[in-house]
Amino acid sequence: MKTSEDLKQIVKDTYSEIAMQSKEQNTVSCCGVGGCATVDYAVFAENYDALKGYNPDADLGLGCGIPTEFANIKEGDTVVDLGSGAGNDCFVARAITGEKGKIIGIDMTEAMIDKARENAEKLGFNNVEFRLGDIEKLPMAANRADVVVSNCVLNLVPDKEKAFAEIFRIVKPGGHISISDVVLKGELPEAVLKASEMYAGCVSGALQKDKYLNIIYRSGFEKLKVPKEKAIHIPDEILGTYLTSEQIKDYRESGRGIYSITVIAEKPLSDNCCTPGCC
Ligand SMILES: C[S@@+](CC[C@H](N)C(=O)[O-])C[C@H]1O[C@@H](n2cnc3c(N)ncnc32)[C@H](O)[C@@H]1O
Repeated sequence: MKTSEDLKQIVKDTYSEIAMQSKEQNTVSCCGVGGCATVDYAVFAENYDALKGYNPDADLGLGCGIPTEFANIKEGDTVVDLGSGAGNDCFVARAITGEKGKIIGIDMTEAMIDKARENAEKLGFNNVEFRLGDIEKLPMAANRADVVVSNCVLNLVPDKEKAFAEIFRIVKPGGHISISDVVLKGELPEAVLKASEMYAGCVSGALQKDKYLNIIYRSGFEKLKVPKEKAIHIPDEILGTYLTSEQIKDYRESGRGIYSITVIAEKPLSDNCCTPGCC
C-alpha cells in the first residue's frame, strides 16, 4: 500500500520527466501516478490557441479544461494557479489582469517551476511568480487571492480535504475559485478503471463527482456551480482489451463514466454565520 508521500514522489518523478518533453511528446505520456506509456493524454486537453496570452512554450498539453474561461478574472486581480506546470493558465490569466495584477503559480515539481520561470523571463513579466510548494500546505498567507484556478491537478493530490481547506484559507473573503478536474460518475468496474487509466491517465486519483463537490462545499465555499462538463470517451478497442463486447455494451448504457468538469465557487464575505437566528 503506497503512502501519500510515495504517491507524491511518483507524481514528482512523472512530471519532472514530462517537463522536459514537448506537448506532442506528452500526448503519448501520462498524467497519472501509474506510469503508462500508452496513455493518450490529449483526450483531456482543450485547445488554447485562440486565447489571449497563450504561450505555446507553456502548453505541455496537460490540462483538462480552461479554468480561466469561468474564473471572472478582473484587471489588477491577484490570481493563484495551483499545479501550474509550465505556466499555461498563468499566462492566460496575466493577459486579463494586466500589469497591475499579480499571478502566482504553485507547483511541487522543481522541473516544472524551472520551466515556468524560464517562460516568464522570456516574456519579460515581473508580476508572474512561480513558487515551489505542495497544495496540501500552500506557501502563501491567508486571504490573499482574488481568484484561485487549477487545471487537472487536484485529482493527483492524495488528501483532497486538506487541499481544499488550504485553497479556502488563501482566497480572500468574497473571492472565488474556478477549477477544472477529472471526476467519475457511478461505480466503474475495475477493468474499466484500468483501461481508462491506460488510455487517458488522471483517473486513478479521481473521486466521484458528488464526493468531490461535497468536499469543496464542506471546506466553506458557497454558490457552487459546474458550468462545464465533458464526458471522456474511451474507445471500444481499448475497453475491448479488458471487457467482452456484452460488458462494453452494459457499461455504455449505464451512464457511468469519466468526466472532465470545471467547478466554480465563492468564499463567503464573512466567515461568521449571519443567517437569521444565528448571530
Ligand atoms: C496534469 S499537470 C497540469 C499542469 C498545468 N496545470 C497545465 O494545465 O498545464 C499536474 C501538475 O500538478 C502538479 N502537482 C501535482 N500534485 C501537486 C501537489 N500536491 N502540489 C503542487 N503541485 C502538484 C504536478 O507537478 C504537475 O505539474
